[in-house]
Amino acid sequence: MKIEPVRIHQTQSHLWIDKVIIRHLIFSDLPQLEWNGEYKHLRQVYLNAYKNRNQGKNVLWVADLPQIGVIGQVFIQLNSVRKDLADGFFSAYLYAFRIKPEFRNAGLGSRMYQVVEKDLLKRNFREVTLNVAKTNESAIRLYQRIGFEIVGTEPGEWSFRDHENKLQNVVEPAWKMVKSISQ
Ligand SMILES: CC(C)(COP(=O)(O)OP(=O)(O)OC[C@H]1O[C@@H](n2cnc3c(N)ncnc32)[C@H](O)[C@@H]1OP(=O)(O)O)[C@@H](O)C(=O)NCCC(=O)NCCS
Repeated sequence: MKIEPVRIHQTQSHLWIDKVIIRHLIFSDLPQLEWNGEYKHLRQVYLNAYKNRNQGKNVLWVADLPQIGVIGQVFIQLNSVRKDLADGFFSAYLYAFRIKPEFRNAGLGSRMYQVVEKDLLKRNFREVTLNVAKTNESAIRLYQRIGFEIVGTEPGEWSFRDHENKLQNVVEPAWKMVKSISQ
C-alpha cells in the first residue's frame, strides 16, 4: 500500500497520539524507515539490524499510526562487541531513535522510551546506554529529562555501506549517556 505524506500540526496531537501503537518492527516495515528517501542510505544498516534481531541481539521498536504508517523508531542492542555499551545481560544500547518531524514534541518519544525501558526490565537489564551527538541539544535535553546522565565522550566514528554499497564514514563527536533502571 502506498502511504501518502501528511501534514499534521503538533497542536493537533490530541487527535492522533492515543491511536499510536508501539510494537516490534516487522520485515515489511523496513522500506518505511527510509522516510521517502531521506534515510535510504541506511538501508543496509536497518537490514543488518533486522538480521541481528532474528538472532536475539537486537530489539527493534516502531511507532505505528494506523492509516498513516510508521512514524517513529527506536532500536535496542542487547549485545555488542562494545561490552561497555551492551553486554547481553546488564547494559543495553539505545540507538536509531527517530520520530518523524510532524509528530515530534507531543510526548511520543518519551512514550516509546518508557516502552523500551519496561521491556528491558522484564529482560532483567539494569542499565541503558546511548551516544548522542554533542550538537543535538533537544535530544540531550530529552534524555536528561528521562533520567540519563552524561558519563563520558565518544569520538562518534563509524562506517557503513550505503544503498549503493559505497562505504560511508561518519565522524560525529558524541556524549555517552547512561541511565540505571530498576522496577
Ligand atoms: C529526539 C526525538 C526522538 C524526541 O522525540 P519526541 O517525540 O519529540 O519527544 P517528546 O515529545 O517526548 O519530547 C520532546 C519535547 O516535547 C515536549 N512534550 C512532550 N509532550 C508534550 C505535549 N503533550 N505537548 C507539548 N510538548 C510536549 C517534551 O517536554 C520535550 O520538551 P523538551 O525538548 O523541552 O525536553 C525527536 O526529536 C527526533 O526524532 N529527533 C531527530 C532524531 C534524533 O535526534 N534522535 C536522537 C538521536 S541520539
